[in-house]
Amino acid sequence: MKKILELITGKMEQAFADAGYEASYGKVTVSNRPDLCEYQCNGALAAAKQYKCAPIQIANAVAEKLDKQDFSMIEAVMPGFLNLKLSDSFLQSYLEEMRNAEDFGVEKTGTGKTVVVDYGGPNVAKPLHIGHLRSAIIGESLKRLYKFFGYNTIGDIHLGDWGLQMGLIIAELQERQPELCYFDEGYTGEYPAEAPFTISELEEIYPAAAAKKKEDEAFAEKAHTATFELQNGRPGYRAIWQHIMNISVADLKRNYNNLDVHFEAWLGESDADPYIPDLIADMKAKGFAVQSEGAWVIPVAEETDKKEIPPCILVKSDGSAIYATTDLATMVQRMQDWKPDKMHYVTDKRQSLHFEQIFRAAKKSGIVPETTQLEHLGFGTMNGADGKPFKTRDGGVMRLEQLIADMTDFVRTKVVENKIVPQDAVEETTQKIAMAALKYGDLSNQPTKDYVFDIDRFAAFEGNTGPYILYTIVRIKSILAKYGAWENLPIAPAANVYAKDLMLCITKLVPNLEIALRTASPNVICAYIYELAGFVNKFYHETRILNEEDKQLQKGYIALIALAKNVLETCIDILGFSAPDKM
Ligand code: ARG
Repeated sequence: MKKILELITGKMEQAFADAGYEASYGKVTVSNRPDLCEYQCNGALAAAKQYKCAPIQIANAVAEKLDKQDFSMIEAVMPGFLNLKLSDSFLQSYLEEMRNAEDFGVEKTGTGKTVVVDYGGPNVAKPLHIGHLRSAIIGESLKRLYKFFGYNTIGDIHLGDWGLQMGLIIAELQERQPELCYFDEGYTGEYPAEAPFTISELEEIYPAAAAKKKEDEAFAEKAHTATFELQNGRPGYRAIWQHIMNISVADLKRNYNNLDVHFEAWLGESDADPYIPDLIADMKAKGFAVQSEGAWVIPVAEETDKKEIPPCILVKSDGSAIYATTDLATMVQRMQDWKPDKMHYVTDKRQSLHFEQIFRAAKKSGIVPETTQLEHLGFGTMNGADGKPFKTRDGGVMRLEQLIADMTDFVRTKVVENKIVPQDAVEETTQKIAMAALKYGDLSNQPTKDYVFDIDRFAAFEGNTGPYILYTIVRIKSILAKYGAWENLPIAPAANVYAKDLMLCITKLVPNLEIALRTASPNVICAYIYELAGFVNKFYHETRILNEEDKQLQKGYIALIALAKNVLETCIDILGFSAPDKM
């Protein structure tokens, strides 16, 4: 389905041609003076130079040629602007088409294409902390946006499950329980199915080991050796690793589920490991990797660089593979298994240089073909009220679970105090509002910017917040429920200026989603639904909907707010949350 601007531009171009001018002058834009008109065309000003006459002369001639059915106002104004308002019938039929089209007539530009969204990136055996929130929320939303445009989407969590943290746990466990069969090199029996630790023990073991590593050199050495032996397949260590994975992944799944964040692929750094030897051999053989101070590196600097881009390290001087190696190997696996048209990474922006390096290395060496796009969305930090990275009251790193619990408790109190829903619906309603508050609070900011986490503001029912959007949807739902059979009523012509504003705003859905996708900016969707919700509420306040006696008119009102509800619900689904029935 054509976007409304394309349609109007098409009509304008025809009018230019009919008046004897070049059609290409007929480009229409949304008005920058909404007090005067809805759309405008400035083409006559440019055309005047070519045709050597006064712009207003051209504007007048073009205005004559426009179809009066399509516009309720066509004005040629000095020095040569064309100001337009759409006719009710034009808008009505456009919205009616939008209502009946699949997904509001969006052009499915992703059909036949595959995109891997790499987000989440938690490290196993470490609890999720608030540093993981943005990746989860932004990544999930980006993935859903791709999906809406028809892409085959693969969200890959890319677990940090292969590094030193595994060796640290093994070394610490050995100090605590040396008698375990996992450490007996002569052991030939089956390893126990039951892990020698619980998730909470694991979460205590890891930080204890990490702290010990800093002070105790011999222990650090042990951990490095354990990591090395694990990676080289020592059976007892592999068995411990499997225990850590089983326990940790189950816990991660629970946490991500609570956030309504879902991954299609639960792969990790360990899954990239088998690809590393061939990768390194290949990079050396083809001359992409060169030796530098005992290490193997892929030079990636380009002449046009404004700042220095250091080479991408493939193998460290001690022979070990690093973060970049794993990421390159992961690309090999993805190209082999999924042949994606794009890989989109969502991480903290402090990793930008890393991604610049590996993207260049991957392209240069052909690991990723020219036809596959690589993009990194680097997000800013979530700060506390003091403008510094968000911390717990005692200055520690806050667990994600805690943050969610705090938000949920805050919302629950409001729900209970204001008697918003009956007792048995308190929990479900609370969850939905809390999720909206948390996610919208994050997503409404440009991803690259830092933002301040503010429970009060995020959970407010008024203002530019998730709960306000939910409230608007719930308001519509309640009107529709009172009205009765509301599905499938056709859109009527705008009955008042509030209806028209609302209708015009609805036509802007697809263009906004396209911008959000093109610029990887869910905040564009937030800004759009905030505006839309404003028009819904204005219309609601200025119009008697349920008391309207003219039943025909009323049908039109209902059809309009039902469409607005569908648009709002589609958008919040892309953002990753949903509305309750009552609020
Ligand atoms: N585990 C990494 C970290 O904690 C994030 C992984 C991001 N994804 C990637 N493909 N490198 O920093």
